[in-house]
Amino acid sequence: MSTIHWSDDLLVNIQEIDLQHRQLFNLFGELEKAVALGAGRQSLDRVIRELNVYVREHFTTEERWMHRHEFPFLPEHLAQHETFVDKLLNLELDHLGGRVDISQELLDYLENWLKDHIGGYDMAFAKYFRNIDA
Ligand SMILES: [Fe+2]
Ligand SMILES: [Fe+2]
Repeated sequence: MSTIHWSDDLLVNIQEIDLQHRQLFNLFGELEKAVALGAGRQSLDRVIRELNVYVREHFTTEERWMHRHEFPFLPEHLAQHETFVDKLLNLELDHLGGRVDISQELLDYLENWLKDHIGGYDMAFAKYFRNIDA
């Protein structure tokens, strides 16, 4: 049973970004479901890879927005993104190397990171854009 749920509290009101956030939650939900159903290594590898690709794509989109509008807290935001990309990449490599089983704790950790990041950092930059746009 999936515990990863999208919540409209996380909407930042930038359509492109909100769509990507929802898609990230869908992918996390798929990973969680695959783990819960005891999916084989190959299908887990596939979902983890997809998640990695999509997270990078999403971060690139946000970073483009922030560069374009000279967002003042870009360095802090970038550092956050880098940490998460590293974590997911390590997870992929460890999983491919057979060094890690994906636990519910790990999924909870990733989900909480994502919610905190969107609710804090992404919300802050979206607010900044709305103000300069107005
Ligand atoms: Fe984001
Ligand atoms: Fe972000």
